[in-house]
Amino acid sequence: MQRETINISERMREEDSYLANVFQRYPIELVRGKGAYVWDSNSKEYIDFMAGYGVALVGHSNDKVVSAIKAQAERLITCHCSCYNDVRLEFLRLLASIAPKGLSKVFLCNSGAEACEAAIKIARKYTRKHGIVAAMNSFHGKTMGALSITYASKYREPFKPLLEGVNFVPYGDADKLEELLSGSGASIGAVILEPIQGEGGINVPPDGYLTRVRELCDRYGILLIFDEIQSGLGRTGRLWASEHWNVAPDIMCIAKGIAGGVPMGAVLARRDVMDALKVGEHSNTFGGNPLACAAAKATLECIIEDDLVGNADRIGKYMKDGLLTLKDRHRVVRDVRGLGLMLGVELRFDVKDVLMDGISHGLLMLYSGRNIIRLLPPLLIDEGIASKALSILDTLLAREEMRRGV
Ligand SMILES: Cc1ncc(COP(=O)(O)O)c(C=O)c1O
Repeated sequence: MQRETINISERMREEDSYLANVFQRYPIELVRGKGAYVWDSNSKEYIDFMAGYGVALVGHSNDKVVSAIKAQAERLITCHCSCYNDVRLEFLRLLASIAPKGLSKVFLCNSGAEACEAAIKIARKYTRKHGIVAAMNSFHGKTMGALSITYASKYREPFKPLLEGVNFVPYGDADKLEELLSGSGASIGAVILEPIQGEGGINVPPDGYLTRVRELCDRYGILLIFDEIQSGLGRTGRLWASEHWNVAPDIMCIAKGIAGGVPMGAVLARRDVMDALKVGEHSNTFGGNPLACAAAKATLECIIEDDLVGNADRIGKYMKDGLLTLKDRHRVVRDVRGLGLMLGVELRFDVKDVLMDGISHGLLMLYSGRNIIRLLPPLLIDEGIASKALSILDTLLAREEMRRGV
């Protein structure tokens, strides 16, 4: 066992020597996953509340997704969108049937950042205005356009100059948005928001905020873009997080778990808005490839047929109650927030030690900023898995209090 452990750390060092040094890395080598569990090369089991940064919505190696990928791989893997494809049509038909009202046209791509890039171009082309309003603490990706609408200066500063005309307003404060639009709003074509902020700290907006943003966009003739890359597809206990407040956008970005772990992103837009883009003005090589479309169709079928949205709502409430109990029990916890299975636990200290201790105790979790633990489990977890995770977290928080002497 000792020898095997040494070999694994050597392999991790070797991977580090090749891979660009841009990721905060966890010292584990994962080799297998099923449902809400993953295993490392020592066969150690983990409850996976990281889920590939929220990607494993329908669980790891979901049977239906695996079968769809296998079958499609044997038929046709690549087919550029310049040709038509049967599976792409079936997927698009299904996606359009569950899209927010009015969003009937789709651009397919390969990641969240690529979806946000496309959304920026669509909005510019439709409105002929280059200004965009984004929110403080937003996260939309790290390619140059997406980075321009991402708030954290640690990501932005080294790469300036970024896109011109981006204004950041406080998230949740519609008065500040109104002030901006009524003052220097003439060049602004779009507002982009995460209906619930993920990377920025699991921030749920106050009731009424998104409704007022929608009204302001309508009043000033501005497009409203929702980035549902993290919050969408059932994660928050509604298919789209914006449904919690009954607000529909003009453009919506999705990605992460849409294809069960196979890379895919998508931009959905109103027909007239998407049609502003003419042939050749935007495209890609891999977007809409049949393999990803087959995986995505199976993923959506799973989400719908297995009622994963309802499950995320139910188990999300159970988890949140459990976390609130932990908050009462542990002084190290400052706040618990989120909806469905998009949950955050804010600590009074840096969460790094808790996350590392979680690895030793078989629970994988994410951070969200320095002092927030982010939980993005697969939507299929049951009360049994949720209780196990809560019980491990209870132990981890007690150990953190011992370490910090609080
Ligand atoms: C809300 C949101 N938008 C955009 C992105 C960027 O997605 P990707 O990492 O696939 O480029 C992320 C990724 O975490 C995200 O959470």
